[in-house]
Amino acid sequence: MSPRPDPRPAAGGPPAEAAKAAPRPGERTAADRLAFWSRQAEELHWETRWSEVLDWSAAPFARWFTGGRLNVAYNCVDRHVEAGHGDQVAFHWEGEPGDTRTITYADLRREVCRTANALLSLGLRAGDRVAIQLPMIPEAVFAMLACARLGLPHSVVFGGFSPAALQSRIEDAGARLLITSDGQYRRGRAEPMKANTDEATRHAPSIEHVLVVRRTATEVPWTEGRDLWWHDLVDTQPDEHRPEAFDAEHPLFILYTSGTTGRPKGILHTSGGYLTQTAYTHRAVFDLDPDTDVYWCTADIGWITGHSYIVYGPLANRTTSVLYEGTPTTPHEGRHFEVIEKYGVSVYYTAPTLIRTFMKWGEQLPARYDLSSIGMLGSVGEPINPEAWRWYRKHIGGDRVPIVDTWWQTETGAVMIAPLPGAAPAKPGSAQAPLPGVSAKVVDDQGREVGRGESGYLVLDQPWPAMLRGIWGDEDRYRETYWARFAHRGHYFAGDGARYDEDGDIWLLGRVDDVMNVSGHRISTAEVESALVSHPSVAEAAVVGASDPTTGQAIVAFVILRAGATDGDAAEVTAALREHVAREIGPIAKPGRILVVPELPKTRSGKIMRRLLRDVAENREAGDVTTLADASVMDLITAGLTGRP
Ligand code: WT7
Repeated sequence: MSPRPDPRPAAGGPPAEAAKAAPRPGERTAADRLAFWSRQAEELHWETRWSEVLDWSAAPFARWFTGGRLNVAYNCVDRHVEAGHGDQVAFHWEGEPGDTRTITYADLRREVCRTANALLSLGLRAGDRVAIQLPMIPEAVFAMLACARLGLPHSVVFGGFSPAALQSRIEDAGARLLITSDGQYRRGRAEPMKANTDEATRHAPSIEHVLVVRRTATEVPWTEGRDLWWHDLVDTQPDEHRPEAFDAEHPLFILYTSGTTGRPKGILHTSGGYLTQTAYTHRAVFDLDPDTDVYWCTADIGWITGHSYIVYGPLANRTTSVLYEGTPTTPHEGRHFEVIEKYGVSVYYTAPTLIRTFMKWGEQLPARYDLSSIGMLGSVGEPINPEAWRWYRKHIGGDRVPIVDTWWQTETGAVMIAPLPGAAPAKPGSAQAPLPGVSAKVVDDQGREVGRGESGYLVLDQPWPAMLRGIWGDEDRYRETYWARFAHRGHYFAGDGARYDEDGDIWLLGRVDDVMNVSGHRISTAEVESALVSHPSVAEAAVVGASDPTTGQAIVAFVILRAGATDGDAAEVTAALREHVAREIGPIAKPGRILVVPELPKTRSGKIMRRLLRDVAENREAGDVTTLADASVMDLITAGLTGRP
């Protein structure tokens, strides 16, 4: 397709209409918002129409489109085939070793039906949970959609998570089935997967079957009766399956994310509202034309971005997407640009950390490829610094295409704050304004909205269709985490700091809680700390996120070693600790630096003062130490660190 000018003409298409109507924060009434979402829901196929758009009577537990019934997979697949688009490509899949597969909507329908029939043959029934740990292969999408088709809430676990992390997620959700693969490609090497998931399922009694996709032809341990090959079970199933409609509030999936404690939260999303908002936002934010665009979201399906903007939103909109298995460096650093050129990608959606990595590699790299198909760029996962924004636009976007910086969370399910293309002049580094139908505010400690030029906490002051419906199995934690902070106003507390500029546009400032953002991944300080103290050498640990030019934040751990553990080489001990964290949580949680210290700075009530440790980690003079129980501790820490890397 031809590149689109920026700003594009406001004429034609619903996105431009939506852009014209985009309100400033607080301008829309609640009734307007409900009417707006009702219109968006009408874009989907409902077997039974809803009787009420929103039931907020049991707040903070929302019910959207009450009484409505639909099948999510039918909306994402079958209806496009029935409308004559069976031959349209749903996915251009590109495997890491260079193998490819083209999947049309008709192919997708057949594969999803077969997979659904296979799951039925295992005795799974609506409401049962299915855990999925798979690399970025088409079967991952087939599995998710088959679950959606049967009303089986899925719990996708990122392929880089450890057996221990997988086990706790399986247990928490009580999953009956695990879908995994023999191995996965990681930077050119085939690494075992099934061997790891076996470690996880050994202590997960709820698992009755393990369905295994052959991907790398890796030798696998096998449990007769429990384990089944995908090609044996799925490929032999009938191609037809009649979808059944489920209640709009039927659980669609659970996705675990880090909070401020050591225990991940199972974020629960349901069907009708989630699909309505993911489809709407995908269409409007990316100004998507399903007949001409080739869209590529580079996330992994193990994260919410993969759920909402690789699977559900794009498929509901009949998008042609690229699905890419590998890392950006395999087999070479130009891989992403090569893929853009090969498929004529017109919408490219990625994370600031990757953009900054591209910057490090240099602009000569994208210059070698024909990127003229690009008409729109997206950013997600962390604040994008203006320098990265400009580089992205210049060297990937040919200095001519719009960039949408999209703010949202696992909990919000879909994009909440983003500039609509063509609606307002771009501001590098600002997510700008809530989308139509969304209401967000920046407030002070008391929940009062702050003025222009002021900063505070980001809150969502009105319910939205794709909002989480709770934390799996933990109603109290849901109320406590999101709704207690501004309970008197009924605001959802996002955990982010934000600022209004002089025009009233929103700038995100990063987390205000003990959650780190490393390469756009959410990791809790408490989770890494508890992994560290589970090692026999560690007496105490404190973890902070220190700002990092590429990854946004980097994990820095301060540890006090047990007597005896210091006998060996300090470098050996810290290397062992890094490996230990990788084993406990996953490689993404490995601290970049581990500093051995004699003491930790604590208040008189025993609370660790992470602010001071962050000062040390970022090579600053430690700030105000007056609330420390022992003010000399900071001297002890810094003295001990002098001369160390
Ligand atoms: C946290 C949510 C949204 C999908 C990927 C991450 C940060 C996300 C932005 C953005 C500034 C952002 C926030 C948020 N974040 N997008 N465009 N600008 N910050 O989902 O793992 O649930 O993390 O990511 O801090 O709270 P997540």
